[in-house]
Amino acid sequence: MSSAYRIAVIPGDGIGPEVVEAELSVLEATRLPFEFTTYPAGDGCSAANGVALPEETLQAALNSQAVIFGAVGNTAAEVILRLRSELATFVNVRPIRAFAGIRCLRPQTDMVIVRENTECLYAGIENLIVPGVVTATRVITERASRRIAHYAFEHARKYGRTKVTAVHKANVLRKSDGLFLDCCRSVSGEFPDVAYDEGLVDSVAMRMVLKPEDFDVIVTTNLFGDILSDLGAGLVGGLGLCPSANLGEEHALFEPVHGTAPDIAGKGLANPAAAIMCGAMLLRYLGEDAAADVVNTALTRCVEGGQTTPELGGSLPTMGMAHEVIRRMD
Ligand code: NAI
Ligand code: MG
Repeated sequence: MSSAYRIAVIPGDGIGPEVVEAELSVLEATRLPFEFTTYPAGDGCSAANGVALPEETLQAALNSQAVIFGAVGNTAAEVILRLRSELATFVNVRPIRAFAGIRCLRPQTDMVIVRENTECLYAGIENLIVPGVVTATRVITERASRRIAHYAFEHARKYGRTKVTAVHKANVLRKSDGLFLDCCRSVSGEFPDVAYDEGLVDSVAMRMVLKPEDFDVIVTTNLFGDILSDLGAGLVGGLGLCPSANLGEEHALFEPVHGTAPDIAGKGLANPAAAIMCGAMLLRYLGEDAAADVVNTALTRCVEGGQTTPELGGSLPTMGMAHEVIRRMD
């Protein structure tokens, strides 16, 4: 079908293929016209072909409407960092929300972390100066900072969120985070309908644990966003509940926040909720809001009804949970 959504699927290693299978079965149950094509990448691919991200996989990601990604192991830097960079996905959006009925540290948590995805300490500029001395360069640009701040405010406006908090360490990183903050402040002036405040990353880490309801949209640089989003996962009951979207001007890649979970891989124990929520984010990206709502509602009912994998206290295997979600989609 020529009007089908062309989606490149990169399942990867460990539980990646398990949760992606669950995600695809839920997307297929929407009966929307999807054309999924699977491509190799990751540790297994590297062992088999000598390359972790084959050119064919990269080209397929560039030529598709969106990419569904599972997880890769030790080759994560070669695969996911390269994909984010080649696809020019400048933002990593990480919703963090607790589900009713799931025992977790902070049930009142409902926030979105908007993480800058292209620079900061992840620019990959590390130098061995002399043996025993290594430097890493933190790159912050006005262009990327304004772009990420813009995205955060637009996201808040679009999804009815009321506040954006810029998270930084400008008291120490005066020039780099000074620039980041200047950009956030300036962009905030364009959004008088969205409240704006700022927080030092260390104090925000503590306040996220003590009072997560103080946060709505957090906008921050790459490394802080990486760390705070795992902290957020801990508040709501684990990595198996946290999806993410990498978005750019022309491309999008959807991946759970978790990795390959080698301790549980191959046992049917992986919680597919994060991957299924990635599927819902993909649907929204494609403009299929009604289908996204159906998937999210079905997943929420399933989780709240205890029809889950062991991570969330249930006894279903990965695909069993996916089938329970699909059963609730009618
Ligand atoms: P991890 O996220 O794979 O696992 C951390 C813990 O959470 C483990 O105990 C695991 O069993 C559990 N867990 C994670 N996802 C789960 C799920 N869906 N259901 C139930 N339990 C789940 O992180 P870890 O152990 O630090 O890394 C393992 C490998 O994954 C490493 O090789 C790392 O490089 C890679 N990794 C890849 C990422 C990516 O592809 N984007 C992201 C993070 C790690
Ligand atoms: Mg991380």
